[in-house]
Amino acid sequence: MSFQRVAVLGAGTMGRGIAQLCAQAGLELRLYDPSAEQLTQAHASIQGQLARLVEKGKLPAAEQHAALERLRPAAELDEACAGAELVIEAAPEVMELKVSLLSQVLRLVPSEALLASNTSSLSVTELGQRLGAPARTLGLHFFNPPPVMPLLEIVRGVGTSEDAVERALGFAQRLGKEPIVVRDFPGFASSRLGVALGAEAIRMLEQGVASAEDIDRAMELGYRHPMGPLKLTDLVGLDVRLAILEHLHRELGEPFRPPALLRQLVRAGRLGKKSGRGFYDWSSGQPRSIG
Ligand SMILES: NC(=O)c1ccc[n+]([C@@H]2O[C@H](COP(=O)([O-])OP(=O)(O)OC[C@H]3O[C@@H](n4cnc5c(N)ncnc54)[C@H](O)[C@@H]3O)[C@@H](O)[C@H]2O)c1
Repeated sequence: MSFQRVAVLGAGTMGRGIAQLCAQAGLELRLYDPSAEQLTQAHASIQGQLARLVEKGKLPAAEQHAALERLRPAAELDEACAGAELVIEAAPEVMELKVSLLSQVLRLVPSEALLASNTSSLSVTELGQRLGAPARTLGLHFFNPPPVMPLLEIVRGVGTSEDAVERALGFAQRLGKEPIVVRDFPGFASSRLGVALGAEAIRMLEQGVASAEDIDRAMELGYRHPMGPLKLTDLVGLDVRLAILEHLHRELGEPFRPPALLRQLVRAGRLGKKSGRGFYDWSSGQPRSIG
């Protein structure tokens, strides 16, 4: 059975992109965030993104309007979840928060609804177990920015049902994404390698090996990475990367110890593109070197 109504919980970097993607794919979408400011910003940002696609000739104007009609911001969780056949949680990378949020969701959605987490690293098996709904809990790991990046990593927990995985694969097809199905293991098949490279690049910056630009250029020009690891960390969010590293360090050990510089920048509020500064200055929308 394919989904008609989807709720996305958390309207930050990822939630707003996933919401846009679902609305463009013809789904009825409710976007929830406890912060009214985030919800307003997310709606404005989605409107801007869709308008830009129309300007570039990549989206007919009629589809822009139809997508916006289908996408409704919701200030209350019950309003977001009513009738949802799929819930995608994109709240901060904190297990207790995700368990508490999805426990409330369980009481609001139909009994066959799938509960998906966009977690980058946390255990989907633990999440399903603690919710008391392992069969219908799984990971739907999107990449940043969700409307653009082709990959969808489907994470199968120990108790996730075959039916849930099949429905997730159908959902990936509907969104035009390339799915991979992976076993639940810290960092899955993507974040584990991605954050290892990012953490090593930060350590190299700490050691004065080269400037942020040159470390990025080394990977872009020497290894054909479309974006260097420090620029990518800015795009992901330094706080998000720190939370992932802390979890992987606990689970997998030493290679994932968070660099001191990363902690320091997060403490200073330099979270990357979303706060205007990280390893680069993003105030003009483009990454510029910071002295
Ligand atoms: N940033 C990335 O590139 C990226 C990529 C893949 C996966 N992820 C994962 O996606 C999730 C969200 O990351 P993000 O980068 O969008 O974070 P973010 O900090 O940009 O956004 C998080 C949002 O969650 C909201 N929130 C806080 N408490 C909430 C609650 N109780 N219920 C619902 N929403 C709540 C916040 O107000 C905020 O708008 C994390 O699990 C992260 O690991 C992030």
